[in-house]
Amino acid sequence: MNAIRTWFYERLPISRLELAELTNEPVPNHLRKWWFCLGGTPAYLFVVQIVTGILLAMYYKPSPSTAYESVRYITSEVSYGWYFRSVHKWAATLMIAAIILHQMRVYFTGAYRKPREINWMVGMCLLLCTLLIGFTGYSLVFEQLSFWGATVAANICNTVPLVGGFAKSMLLGGENYNANTLPRFFILHAAVLPVTMILLLMIHLGILRLQGVTEFEFENEAPDEPKYFNFFPDHLYTELIIGLVLMILLSALATVLPATMGARANPLVTPDVIKPEWYFYVAYRWLKLFSGTVAVLSTGFIVFAMFIWPFIDKFLRRKTKIDEISVWIGMAGVGLLVGMTVWEALVEY
Ligand code: HEM
Repeated sequence: MNAIRTWFYERLPISRLELAELTNEPVPNHLRKWWFCLGGTPAYLFVVQIVTGILLAMYYKPSPSTAYESVRYITSEVSYGWYFRSVHKWAATLMIAAIILHQMRVYFTGAYRKPREINWMVGMCLLLCTLLIGFTGYSLVFEQLSFWGATVAANICNTVPLVGGFAKSMLLGGENYNANTLPRFFILHAAVLPVTMILLLMIHLGILRLQGVTEFEFENEAPDEPKYFNFFPDHLYTELIIGLVLMILLSALATVLPATMGARANPLVTPDVIKPEWYFYVAYRWLKLFSGTVAVLSTGFIVFAMFIWPFIDKFLRRKTKIDEISVWIGMAGVGLLVGMTVWEALVEY
């Protein structure tokens, strides 16, 4: 064992002690509570997505004539294909839920305030990329809803003044859904978006490492209690346990509620009900409530306001002198989000 260690050390002169020093930063006590370290959950699920996605890509054939059949083959004939496809689908859902919860934690604890404004904006880019990766993934199966969902999304893009037509033809690779559309979605889903997310994650975690996490004071904290604990191994164990629980949860969901196949896409038959995945319910309900252009522009405005929220918050607090104004606005926002999602889930059309 010693000889192997020496062999490696002579070629890679990094000692265990140096490595421990590099990774072992003191972690504030509040990160012992899982809801304060929810950011680790989407990171873990992202790795699950990469691994299961690579396995699925070995059999998936991205063209309108072959896609549906290749997904059917993965689901019913490839060994454990149904399992990896189902884990991929469930991990996508859980990842989006975890990001929303992480963002809510950051928001309601004011952890986006100076000096963390840039990291909030990087986080917003991660949120948008995750939603896009979910949308493009859903379109790859080439079911009725994949085809009509993509068509509806392209028509929504088209309602944006000036750039709408261009955005639509960029998305579809032509005026309408055609043979170029599915390969385009696949490249976005399996290459462009994951690579962008890896870069964004490196920036997100790099900034976090430079600044450290926000430190909070709690009323019930004993003054003589140590305020920090070690990242290695204490925090690493917490993350590993969360990872194990997630793996069990994913396996249970994949087994009890496996991914199924809907009807194959038929461009000549519009389905009675076109519904996106649950995480787009709120945007879809909004679109139904307002006319096309108003709905799209107001959605863009809301996303932009979320993007620059740290600066809006600073401005509002200075003008109103109400320190918790963001909490009240956040509660109204979450209420609206949950209300519209439930509304869309309950109605058939
Ligand atoms: C793939 C998605 C994301 C991953 C993997 C991720 C990962 C993380 C991790 C591991 C932390 C350390 C603290 C914690 O665990 O809560 C963190 C902190 C942070 N994240 Fe994210 N994040 C993601 C998305 C977002 C989003 C959508 C936002 C907001 C728009 C955001 C904003 C922040 C901010 C401001 C911090 C610093 C919090 C503090 O100092 O307490 N992140 N992120």
